[in-house]
Amino acid sequence: MKEKMLEALYEKKGDYISGEELANLFGVSRTAIWKHMNQIKLEGYNVETTKKGYRILDANEKLLPMDIKARLEAHNFGGNILHFESIDSTNNHAKKIAYEVPEGTIVISEEQQAGRGRMGKGWSSPKGEGIWMSIILKPMIPPTEASMLTQVAAAAVCKAIREATGLPALIKWPNDIVVNGKKVCGILTEMAGELNEVSYIIVGIGINVNISYFPEELRLNATSLLLENKEKINRNYLTALIINKFAALYSAFIEERNFNLSLDICRVYSAVIGKTIYLVRGEERQQVLALDITDEGLLKIRQSNGEETTIISGEVSIRGEEGYI
Ligand code: BTN
Repeated sequence: MKEKMLEALYEKKGDYISGEELANLFGVSRTAIWKHMNQIKLEGYNVETTKKGYRILDANEKLLPMDIKARLEAHNFGGNILHFESIDSTNNHAKKIAYEVPEGTIVISEEQQAGRGRMGKGWSSPKGEGIWMSIILKPMIPPTEASMLTQVAAAAVCKAIREATGLPALIKWPNDIVVNGKKVCGILTEMAGELNEVSYIIVGIGINVNISYFPEELRLNATSLLLENKEKINRNYLTALIINKFAALYSAFIEERNFNLSLDICRVYSAVIGKTIYLVRGEERQQVLALDITDEGLLKIRQSNGEETTIISGEVSIRGEEGYI
């Protein structure tokens, strides 16, 4: 009932719908509508009540699945949004439920108690200030192509951040989005499957959206969209924008075997191509020149002895000459 009422409110796109209309629509009393509406408000939806009826307004502070859904273009993605106030890690939960839910299901949480980053690192995920989400995918691709989905996601997030904020977001191959040399987003892609068949892939996206303070150990390399743009961003809007862009690039990749759409974005907005960078493997640090991203999504580099080679994501960390990038 609550879901249906929310749908009716969002269908009006900010116009009023009267209690009577809702009562008739669902065959219940106006008192019942009023009670459900109070519940909806308690969940954080910004419903205005006047003599003309009810209408839904933008809610800036909370992640609201229906608000996100109302902004979606593609119906195969985000139709199923599982929202949590708190969770250990959205990637962990996505893995648990992957076999039971349709492709395109999204797990999103206000906070993560044990957010995970790449290479066994943690991922700080404070409450109400970021987008911590995982997309469940079941593509018919060989496991060797799974890492390409990180590039698809990076392209989608980079474009969405640029569109939503105007900030000069760049992609630090393979899985970070940076703004003004500091990290605002990390992507963790995880896969389950056999040697030649993917069962599912989880693309976990973490974005520092409205974080106003970073502890000292993170401050050097991390920033948020709020700190860079001096303005809070509606997370529902940005989440939907990312899902829409991801859905378009993903379907081009899977259905039309067109990876170039994503690759072109990764190349145009690359934070590393043309730069001298350091490849970090444990204690070892190697200075190289980043030349390009190959058609398979690998980073092409030139070593100091002139030899050109490609590196696979997951092998190394990258650092810039003067710091993070
Ligand atoms: C990295 O840069 O190391 C990757 C960070 C990925 C963080 C996201 S937040 C949502 C999802 N759930 C997790 O536990 N991790 C990813």
